[in-house]
Amino acid sequence: MAGARKIIIDTDPGQDDAVAILLALASPELEVVGITAVAGNVPLTLTEKNARKICELAGRPETLVFAGADRPLERKLVTAEHVHGKTGLDGPDLPKPEMPLQDKNAVDFIVETLMAAAPGEITLCPLGPLTNIALAMRQEPAIVPRIREIVLMGGGFFEGGNITPTAEFNIYVDPEAADIVFRSGVPITMMPLDVTHKALTSRVRVDAFRELGTRTGEATAQLLDFFERFDEEKYGTDGGPLHDPCVIAWLIRPELFSGRDCNVEVELQSELTLGMTVVDWWRVTDRPKNAFVVREIDADGFFGLLTERLATLP
Ligand code: BDR
Ligand code: CA
Repeated sequence: MAGARKIIIDTDPGQDDAVAILLALASPELEVVGITAVAGNVPLTLTEKNARKICELAGRPETLVFAGADRPLERKLVTAEHVHGKTGLDGPDLPKPEMPLQDKNAVDFIVETLMAAAPGEITLCPLGPLTNIALAMRQEPAIVPRIREIVLMGGGFFEGGNITPTAEFNIYVDPEAADIVFRSGVPITMMPLDVTHKALTSRVRVDAFRELGTRTGEATAQLLDFFERFDEEKYGTDGGPLHDPCVIAWLIRPELFSGRDCNVEVELQSELTLGMTVVDWWRVTDRPKNAFVVREIDADGFFGLLTERLATLP
């Protein structure tokens, strides 16, 4: 589609990352110029493979997939097999991908794409730890003013954390990278747990994917059946939070969400609260506003959009 918004999806699939990728590939408003994999939910060798599996599921094997950082900037990798299963994509039995992994490193791809594009042309959509994005900013600081916007899933404030009492997984895994990104000056839209915990994969919503009667619909239902198992027990809800697709939905239908501009800083020192995103929601400091923090979602509208778009895939 002429005028489609160009995005790079930086991701660690992950069942919810997978649904985010499917939504982006199914949406004519967006052009996915590349998918960059990072270590997070599972190690990099699995996340890059999972990204390719999902492109093939969507019937889009021409999508460019790159592998980036295999560990956080300064810390040992923490993974989340307890949530996503051993492969990161447990649930459906997806075939081994045949499409190639690109030779270029993901960080080089991000840098080269931004330098070659017009300023303000490329939006970054990080769905995992922010390692690749921070490395790209470090490698070529000239990319920073060229990024149109960073729309990311990460952090939490009113809801607390999901990997420690105060930290959300993506930020906790690489807090130093998150700090670089939040201080970069790039316009940021943040989808924290405060909003994603309102996007629950209830039985009715998952059945709607299955009832599409397509291979993508069936695989999505199987992914979510697996994914919600852990969270349902943890939170006592009907369904688990579908975090990462909120990022893509925001780009397509921002009217489904609401939030406000705030200062957000990442805790790097305290052992107790490492990786906490401290959001000045009530604006009690003079610290500069560096992120649009989303807190509310029209969850029925969001799942309606997902179902409508996934219906267009094979
Ligand atoms: C985030 O962590 C991962 O487990 C999910 O894919 C999501 O990006 C939620 O905290
Ligand atoms: Ca993710």
